[in-house]
Amino acid sequence: MVDSTIANAGGISRSDWTSDEFKIISGANAAANGLSAPSPSPGDSTMDEIVRGLSGRQKKLPSKLFYDERGSQLFDDICNLSEYYVTRTETALMESYADEIAAELGAGAMLIEYGSGSSTKTRVLLSHLDRPAGYVPIDISAEHLIKTVRALKREYPGLEIHPLAADFTRPFALPASVNGSFSENPNRVIYFPGSTIGNFEKHEATDLMRGMASIVKKGGRLLIGVDLDKDPEVLQRAYDDSLGVTAEFNRNILVRLNREFGCNFDVDQFEHRAIYDAQHSRVEMHLVSLVPQTATVCGKTVTFEIGETILTEYSHKYTISTFTEIAEQAGFQSRRVWMDPEELFSIHLLEVA
Ligand SMILES: C[S@@+](CC[C@H](N)C(=O)[O-])C[C@H]1O[C@@H](n2cnc3c(N)ncnc32)[C@H](O)[C@@H]1O
Repeated sequence: MVDSTIANAGGISRSDWTSDEFKIISGANAAANGLSAPSPSPGDSTMDEIVRGLSGRQKKLPSKLFYDERGSQLFDDICNLSEYYVTRTETALMESYADEIAAELGAGAMLIEYGSGSSTKTRVLLSHLDRPAGYVPIDISAEHLIKTVRALKREYPGLEIHPLAADFTRPFALPASVNGSFSENPNRVIYFPGSTIGNFEKHEATDLMRGMASIVKKGGRLLIGVDLDKDPEVLQRAYDDSLGVTAEFNRNILVRLNREFGCNFDVDQFEHRAIYDAQHSRVEMHLVSLVPQTATVCGKTVTFEIGETILTEYSHKYTISTFTEIAEQAGFQSRRVWMDPEELFSIHLLEVA
């Protein structure tokens, strides 16, 4: 059985959601279906996040805003770049150790995926898992989620799929169709690949994982892909590729702000820059203002000096021990770690203690 409902939570945009195959549960419908549809508290809307981020000394935008339909496509293009070792290495690891990982997870696992994107590595997992009880892909990029789920339904006709369009950094409820069965399932697993955890500062990553621990509860597991610290030149190339795809991905955030939030950034007057910060073991992506300029942002004027930047993304890089430390702070114990021979990337299996 495949659930043909996409539940929507957390203020996700819902343009073009008129397909016969998918219904949207939101607002009153959500309540009727037993979903708690979180309405952002005052001062906490996406618009507020944008204005707040662009008002500080270091201007910032939340990286989740990359992922409109175009942004998700561009991310998939990045995954295919030769310089972007991240996806290639994690996929190869999943393929090499799929049997072991599936054996660790055991039969009848109920899988929730955070930031599922195109569910590429998930397919490797799903193809090896012993009779998974269901799959809940969660992603903020609603249109991309719909496309991905359509394909998954064709590829895994026997699998129950309960997609959720939601911002996982805000409170969300699992789709009503899965809520009870997830907490009752003895084999509860969250999958979080792609090193998306690296986009969060360490205290935020710890909080996010603590939230995951409270969802899977004692004995529940987290299977998470974590990028490892490495040669800054390799990192630099991965986040500033020769074809300029990452640059387009980065600038697309301003295109989106102009289209969806009534801003008027002169996108061509911002340049992509990736910087490795050794002190914090992270790559930072910035948009650099090429000229002195102003932009109207949600009705407010924001001024840019020449060379001033907007920080759009962190990608924190870990060692096995620095990651295990924050996992433990979040309430998990390490069960297994898989790593490639070059030690570029790691996959951790954690369990709530
Ligand atoms: C780095 S990509 C990883 C995609 C995929 N998991 C992979 O491993 O290739 C991050 C994914 O998380 C989603 N995402 C980012 N921030 C999110 C948020 N706050 N809530 C829900 N999804 C989010 C994006 O739309 C995107 O699909």
